[in-house]
Amino acid sequence: MKLPHLIIGNLDIPIPIVQGGMGIKISLAKLSSSVANCGAVGTISAAIKSDHVKDRKNIASGAEGDVSEFVGFIREAKRLTTGVIAVNIMTALTSYQQLVEAAVRENVDIIFSGAGLPLNLPMLVEGSSVKIAPIVSSGRVAELICKTWTRKYNRVPDAVVLEGPMAGGHLGYSLDELKDEASMPKLENLLADVLEVTRKYSKEYNKTIPVIAGGGIYTGTDIAKIIKLGASGVQMGTRFVCTDECDAADAFKQAYVKAKKEDIIIINSPVGMPGRALRNEFLEKAKKGEIKFNCSFLCLKTCNPKTSPYCIANALTNAAQGNLEEGFVFAGSNVYRVDKIVPVKDLIKELVDEAESAFNFLGRYNNESSCFS
Ligand SMILES: Cc1cc2nc3c(=O)[nH]c(=O)nc-3n(C[C@H](O)[C@H](O)[C@H](O)COP(=O)(O)O)c2cc1C
Repeated sequence: MKLPHLIIGNLDIPIPIVQGGMGIKISLAKLSSSVANCGAVGTISAAIKSDHVKDRKNIASGAEGDVSEFVGFIREAKRLTTGVIAVNIMTALTSYQQLVEAAVRENVDIIFSGAGLPLNLPMLVEGSSVKIAPIVSSGRVAELICKTWTRKYNRVPDAVVLEGPMAGGHLGYSLDELKDEASMPKLENLLADVLEVTRKYSKEYNKTIPVIAGGGIYTGTDIAKIIKLGASGVQMGTRFVCTDECDAADAFKQAYVKAKKEDIIIINSPVGMPGRALRNEFLEKAKKGEIKFNCSFLCLKTCNPKTSPYCIANALTNAAQGNLEEGFVFAGSNVYRVDKIVPVKDLIKELVDEAESAFNFLGRYNNESSCFS
């Protein structure tokens, strides 16, 4: 059986895979355009921290710094592909509104937005045809967003991304829920809750709201299983880091290839959320309060530089550039399974082939056991 297309409004996406936005500077023009060229969704992360910002107040004009660099990446991606290009803009970013407005001006296809509640996103894109998709961690959050958007803006999401607790990067779950696998909510159960909400609003607004599920999706079989359970597509991050085209430095990718299961830890990020990362000396030092820094960026609404143990923007930028002594690497729970770096088109072909044969198998045996681990 063929994989179904992912339909988001008038966007017909042949491969129902969304390459998740990955900051800082992990998914930019090269990765996103390569994914889009294969018929899936390529996503540029707006978490950038430009080196050119001299005065954060000037960002509001969009004339310098993060916003202009972000615009450059969107233009570059669009030059390299005619496929679907999305952006991922975290609500926690200080320049959130300016970044959304820039994405609208540049006519991106989709804005994904999480790391907080994107409650005013419909207002910021009003009058444009850009699709908007909140990233949620539960049915409860999906309900809150749909309720607010319908009440205030008479609008439902064009799609919803469910990011489960096995994902890399920041996570919308408590430290308690993330302490071990047994206490983590299961992606399939979370999906059922989110589908209940989206189906209700779909019916009320006579509009399909596809749900894209991610976090721990590793193989084509995982993709087939979650689609069989009602997802319209998947979001994947970790596997796209280990591609030739990923925008991170080789040392970042090699940290993934070398990672063992016991290297994966949950940290308390200055963003104000837990995050999944790879243990290293920098994080050990940060835990002991040994990192000294001066903040001149104020890139996050949620970070207090006076109490934060380190500057996450500096740490992630250093890591993306291959300086892991002064930074660290976010990664998904399946990172230890990665053993090589491959071209994007080989990865996507492998996933699609596996998913299509798994569909046939699942159709025959209706096997619903969990494989998202
Ligand atoms: C290195 C890295 C950076 C990420 N950065 C972001 C980000 O800036 N914003 C965001 O919403 N999600 C971010 N994510 C989450 C991904 O978009 C995606 O949802 C997640 O990786 C899916 O889980 P998987 O890694 O198990 O496939 C990041 C993930 C990784 C691995």
